[in-house]
Amino acid sequence: MAVLVLGGAGYIGSHAVDQLISRGYDVVVVDNLGTGHRQSVHRDAKFYEGDIRDQGFLTHIFTNESIEGVFHFCAYSLVGESVQKPLAYFNNNVQGLQVLLEVMYEHQVEYIIFSSTAAVYGEPDSVPITEEDSKTPTSPYGESKLMMEKMMHWSHEAYGVKYAALRYFNVAGAKEDGTIGEDHRPETHLIPIVLQTALGQRDQITVFGDDYDTEDGSCIRDYLHVEDLIEAHILAYEYLQNDGEPGAFNLGSSQGYSVFEILEAARNVTQKEIKAIVGERRAGDPSKLVASSDKARQLLGWQPKHDNINDIIGSAWQWHYQHPNGYQEDMEG
Ligand code: UFG
Repeated sequence: MAVLVLGGAGYIGSHAVDQLISRGYDVVVVDNLGTGHRQSVHRDAKFYEGDIRDQGFLTHIFTNESIEGVFHFCAYSLVGESVQKPLAYFNNNVQGLQVLLEVMYEHQVEYIIFSSTAAVYGEPDSVPITEEDSKTPTSPYGESKLMMEKMMHWSHEAYGVKYAALRYFNVAGAKEDGTIGEDHRPETHLIPIVLQTALGQRDQITVFGDDYDTEDGSCIRDYLHVEDLIEAHILAYEYLQNDGEPGAFNLGSSQGYSVFEILEAARNVTQKEIKAIVGERRAGDPSKLVASSDKARQLLGWQPKHDNINDIIGSAWQWHYQHPNGYQEDMEG
């Protein structure tokens, strides 16, 4: 039996494939290479290129392969972009999951581990945020993921689908040996942009707003290491297989850092100047997102190993320093 990793050529999906294979799982990867990279697909995984909205394509895979569970990482995931292109987000994310759940049901595949997001909460009433707190997304991206969680909830009720919706806070870092890492085009995430500035690929970084209701006026986020994040996925999979109750779990470090604090930490790690200017707020950004991850710690037995922001930025720096042009360089070399 194999696990199917959807979006296994992306940043988070490629780290999942890597950990699953190192733990002895047989892995089948699906990716449409819209944002993923062929070079990041693990050589020991079986790879199918295609789109999960294509029901015939997905049916072919479920018929040909012996799939026992699904890890779903293929969705659009940019808060700012989703405000500009809401329908693209509902189409790719919501419709993709609807087709997937139908095909899973047809083939009696019960388990799904799903990438959800802190963006389902919108502007929180208080932090740290628990799973039961109110959910009023401030972006179409967050809204699409909340809809997807509800689709899985109702599919659980009707068809017995067993799901874990893992609500990621801000994922960063890379595999320790620097062989896989984050390469988005265009890049919009804070830590890679800060590190590209440290490398001299950008002149400066723009801090999106310094007039938020936080201590230094910039937004606060909860950053967690991608390897810890993936560990939680595998624990959640085992938890469901042991008859754990389906539902949602926050995944974060429970520590908040402002944009200015991340800049300072990156200056320390890289020993580079990293010029920053202050610009306008970015649409859809809540001021402060920090997780309570008690539920994941208690029910899944999850214990993040990288609880220091310097470690997280350090591993990302290792990747960016060794691969200044990301996967592009590997293709040319
Ligand atoms: N930021 C800047 N300048 C930049 C880029 C980002 O100031 O050039 C700020 C943002 O405004 C935000 C913070 O840095 O306050 C982090 O921004 P990211 O774009 O790195 O991450 P987001 O918080 O917007 O979103 C990420 C994921 C989402 C997920 C969310 C949950 O991309 O999928 O975390 O917190 F939903």
